[in-house]
Amino acid sequence: MKTTHTTIWITGASSGIGRALALHYALSGARLVLSSRNREALREVEEQCKPHATDVLVLPLDLEDNSDYSDAVQKVVAAFGTIDFLILNGGISQRSKVIETPAAVERQLMEINYFGTVALAKAVLPEMIRQQRGHLVVVSSIVGKFGWPLRSSYSAAKHALHGYFETLRAEHYHDNIFVTMILPGRVNTNISFHSLKADGSSHGKMDAGQAGGISAEACARQIAKAINKKKKEKLIGGTEIVMARIRRWLPALYYTLVNKKIQQT
Ligand SMILES: NC(=O)c1ccc[n+]([C@@H]2O[C@H](COP(=O)([O-])OP(=O)(O)OC[C@H]3O[C@@H](n4cnc5c(N)ncnc54)[C@H](OP(=O)(O)O)[C@@H]3O)[C@@H](O)[C@H]2O)c1
Repeated sequence: MKTTHTTIWITGASSGIGRALALHYALSGARLVLSSRNREALREVEEQCKPHATDVLVLPLDLEDNSDYSDAVQKVVAAFGTIDFLILNGGISQRSKVIETPAAVERQLMEINYFGTVALAKAVLPEMIRQQRGHLVVVSSIVGKFGWPLRSSYSAAKHALHGYFETLRAEHYHDNIFVTMILPGRVNTNISFHSLKADGSSHGKMDAGQAGGISAEACARQIAKAINKKKKEKLIGGTEIVMARIRRWLPALYYTLVNKKIQQT
C-alpha cells in the first residue's frame, strides 16, 4: 500500500514490533508519528525512517501516565492535519505467578497495557469522528484469548482490550472507523527482557520461546497485510498460534496442556 500523505501514529515505536512497523510504513512513504518513553531510541528509529517517509514526528509519551493525551493529539493534528491510523502497540509483559504478584505490579500492567491504550484511543477518537474516517489497530496478544502461567495481569489487560475495542468498533461503525485486533504469538523482540517480575523489576533475559519466535519484520508485514484487508482480528506467529484454536474448539486439550506447562514452571 502506498501511504504518502497518510498519517500513521505508532506507539511502542522505539523497539521490536513497533519499530519494525515504523520502518515498514516509512518505505511506503507515510507520515509517521513515533511514540514511546525513550526519546533517544525514537530518534534512532526516526533517522532510519527519514530517508523514505514523507515526514516523521517524534512524540514521546508514557502509557502509564495516561490522564490526558489531548496535547499529544493536538501536536499531531497541527503537524500533519489528519490521523488516519493509530497503531496501539506499546506494552509490557509479565513473568510472575498470581500468588507472588503485589497489587502495585498488577495495576502497573493494567495501566500500561489497558488504561494507557484506551486513553490514547479515546483522545484520538473525536478527531477520527470529525474526519469521518480512521483505523485503530490494537496489538493484543494470543494470551488475549486464554490465560497462561506467569501472565495473569498481562493476559487480563489484553482480554480487556478485546471487550473495549469490540464495543468501540460497533459504536463507531457509522463514523467509518475501523478496528483491527492483532494477536501475536511469539515474536523475537526484547519483550521478555522488559517483562515485569513480582518485585516490579525487569525480567532482564531473553526467554527461549521468545528467541524462537518469528522476526519483528515478518510480524510487521503481516500486521500491514491485515490492516490493508481491514481484518477485524488477526492471529500472527508460528505453530504456537494453534493454541488459540485449541482453546476455542478443544478446551479440554487446552486445560491438559496448560496444566502440564505449570508443572514445568
Ligand atoms: N513479542 C511478542 O512475542 C509479543 C507477543 C504478543 C503480543 N506482543 C505485544 O506486542 C507489542 C509490542 O511488543 P514487542 O514485542 O515489540 O516488545 P518490546 O520490544 O519490548 O517493545 C515494547 C514497546 O512498548 C513501549 N512501552 C513499554 N512501556 C511503555 C510505556 N509505559 N509507555 C509508552 N511506551 C511503552 C516500549 O518503548 P519505551 O521503552 O521506549 O517506552 C517499546 O517500544 C506489545 O503490546 C506486546 O504486548 C508481543
